[in-house]
Amino acid sequence: MVGDSMIHLRNVTRTYSSGSGVVRALDGISLDIPAGGFVTVTGPSGCGKSTLLNLLGGLDRPTSGEILVDGIPLHSAGERALTSYRRNTLGIVFQFFNLLPAMTVRENVELPLLLRGESARKAAPRVDEMLDLVGLSARSGHFPHQLSGGEMQRTAIARALAGCPRLLLADEPTGNLDSANAARVCETLLKIASQKIAVLVIVTHSESVAAMASARIRMLDGKIIPHNNGPAGG
Ligand SMILES: Nc1ncnc2c1ncn2[C@@H]1O[C@H](COP(=O)(O)OP(=O)(O)OP(=O)(O)O)[C@@H](O)[C@H]1O
Ligand SMILES: [Mg+2]
Repeated sequence: MVGDSMIHLRNVTRTYSSGSGVVRALDGISLDIPAGGFVTVTGPSGCGKSTLLNLLGGLDRPTSGEILVDGIPLHSAGERALTSYRRNTLGIVFQFFNLLPAMTVRENVELPLLLRGESARKAAPRVDEMLDLVGLSARSGHFPHQLSGGEMQRTAIARALAGCPRLLLADEPTGNLDSANAARVCETLLKIASQKIAVLVIVTHSESVAAMASARIRMLDGKIIPHNNGPAGG
């Protein structure tokens, strides 16, 4: 780790080349987030929020710059190290859920534990606990196409939490939920975060979610907007 940072970004750039030119999805981002934080990322559509989360999740690499999470250099790590990072350190709730369509709710939630080498039998109590936590015990045998949008989202959250990750990344985790379920999900994430997760990073458009954060990152056009409190900038 760099200092006491759980997450350390230095001059991170991610560009995409397309027919019409180069898009600077992230444009020289530097950031330090200490362990124990609940961080929200806000900003208009297209400002680079999902791009940032993909980099933190080791799903994509920066065009230039440095990213260290829990001391692991994601910008230079090999595929094996990245796979191990995703399996052992990370939980991620994708913007569009990425549930596996041929697997039931229960199997989706169980999968990260099996990938880690746990037996289905050993994983079962944890899977039950997660399904109960998000209120989906009664839907555990359903396939994703048999779920509402909010139920898919809660399944994705249960899957992300199943492996007790040190870093939880969530892209609009309450975007498809009514306010009662959104509040419930946020309370759950915060409760778990305060117990076990070192850092929780949530992309949100919700002011009420952002208001709960220990630090807020505001983005515009691939850059972090400096402000008075929180870890942004630097
Ligand atoms: N694979 C890609 N190829 C080219 N451009 C891309 C690609 N992925 C993202 N972009 C561009 O990068 C910019 C940032 O995209 P990103 O998905 O990070 O935005 P976002 O802040 O998550 O937006 P939203 O709130 O709509 O989800 C956008 O202008 C987008 O068009
Ligand atoms: Mg996005």
